[in-house]
Amino acid sequence: MTDKRQILATCALLYANGPLHLGHLVEHIQADIWVRFQRMHGHETHFVCGSDCHGTPIMLRAQKEGITPEELVKRVAKEHFHDLGNFSISYDHFDSTHSDENKTLVEELYLTLKENNDIATREIAQAYDAEKEMFLPDRFVKGDCPKCEAKDQYGDSCEHCGATYSPTDLKNPISALSGTTPTQKKSQHFFFKLGNYENFLKEWFKGGHLQSQVTNKLGEWFEAGLKDWDISRDAPYFGFEIPGEKDKYFYVWLDAPIGYMASFKALCNKADIDFNHYWKNDSTTELYHFIGKDIIYFHALFWPAMLEGAGYRKPTAIKVHSFLTVGGKKMSKSRGTFIKASTYSKHLNPEYLRYYYAAKLSSHIEDIDLNFEDFQLRINSDLIGKFVNIASRCAGFITKRFEGKLTATLENKSLYHELSKQADGISQDYENLDSSQAVRKIMALADKANQYIAEQEPWKLIKEEGKENDAWQVCSLSLNLFKILAAMLKPILPETIAKAESFLDTDLDWKSIQTPLLDHSINKFKPLLTRIEETQIQALQEEAKQDVQ
Ligand code: MSP
Ligand code: ZN
Repeated sequence: MTDKRQILATCALLYANGPLHLGHLVEHIQADIWVRFQRMHGHETHFVCGSDCHGTPIMLRAQKEGITPEELVKRVAKEHFHDLGNFSISYDHFDSTHSDENKTLVEELYLTLKENNDIATREIAQAYDAEKEMFLPDRFVKGDCPKCEAKDQYGDSCEHCGATYSPTDLKNPISALSGTTPTQKKSQHFFFKLGNYENFLKEWFKGGHLQSQVTNKLGEWFEAGLKDWDISRDAPYFGFEIPGEKDKYFYVWLDAPIGYMASFKALCNKADIDFNHYWKNDSTTELYHFIGKDIIYFHALFWPAMLEGAGYRKPTAIKVHSFLTVGGKKMSKSRGTFIKASTYSKHLNPEYLRYYYAAKLSSHIEDIDLNFEDFQLRINSDLIGKFVNIASRCAGFITKRFEGKLTATLENKSLYHELSKQADGISQDYENLDSSQAVRKIMALADKANQYIAEQEPWKLIKEEGKENDAWQVCSLSLNLFKILAAMLKPILPETIAKAESFLDTDLDWKSIQTPLLDHSINKFKPLLTRIEETQIQALQEEAKQDVQ
């Protein structure tokens, strides 16, 4: 890994009709840690995201608020971007799918696919609200479950018994928009012929681009057969019009992934990066999409097939993560566990959440739980009790007694080496998205450092006649051990480690782990982090309960 890599990473584009919450942050934090880690290695790493703006729910939400969809998505995107900044998510660019760049790319890809004979047209019948004069997406038809008869279920699945079906199967269906009974109406739709890419996809899946859990899931879908994908919607719709057609729009999920390209294109324009180098060539550049498990189908089937058809490179890997639960359950507004990112950051340091997620996440797709008791315990014991403690126990002596200078030699080189030699293994853990493993190892090293300090008792040495130099040696080595840990934690705790860097008066990249600071002046120590108090958590939970979206 000594060669400089060229990397483009993305997170799923956020629907611009609701607030950013702690569930969304799993993805942005996981990806940001990975991106920061790559940058620490000196790799050229671009990181882009944006808002997913199109579709019926956004159009209707704007109508309800009495504003245009453009106004709505602009406002929400601004809030999302602000929240992401509070959690130190280091995007180089954050765009929107409703952009000129996206429109151009969407048309280009579509027309190429059409030319390839990958687009079919067919007439289909769909639920229609005659009063509102619009076709109804599945979620806007409600009725009794055809299987268990539970009332007030959505047109795609039953929340009561879990059955999946189509809206026409519902008993006593009504339109969620007008309350009237929907009729069936026919119209012409455009389909992407996914089946044309069956052989390509089968080969692509063998290429190690996906976690094995994902490949297994895809195997099931393959067996069920690859169906044509409906990529068009009828007016009224907030989206891009299909070129050459009247009152037909691209379905939001067609233009959303192309939004990754478009957001990067906008970055290329402002930062002078070669777009085609990243999107037409996969031999020297790498492309990663971070997504949740609910959107695998779009990213692992449609997206690579579309890229293949349109003559673009395919992702190097799709990094799928699990879902967040709070207190062991799905986030819920009524339980007060639907926590907005902005509510969290009013009460607690965002770095704590970054650390907590890092300590839980692995490459295995398994739901992670936020349990506030565990959260408080973990932060206070790991970050304050173990990590920050090393510096706070030793820094004062260096400043007050040794003119802020570290010794010119290391008292115990092998201890320094014992910690620094773990850098490669921990690096591999970060690379593989096994941050929980990395955190476990780093905290074991912090225990070693604390054990050393406890044994040496510099606070006693400093008072003993003729032992002053020993105290200096011990504190200097301890701060060098702290420096190793700080570098290792930097991808997870960017703000805290920036403070540690100014305290140590040094920049920490991954290489720096191997080089101790000798005969080096440091700055006065200021507290890096404070303990979490019970009252802060209570105040957060209280406010989350009051929050109504
Ligand atoms: N707009 C689509 C993505 C289009 S990408 C071309 C979308 N948006 S979303 O806002 O609903 O979700 C954004 C990301 O957040 C998705 O990857 C989704 O899996 C993730 N999460 C949403 N809720 C989540 C949890 N409770 N836990 C973890 N991730 C979650 O899907
Ligand atoms: Zn049911």
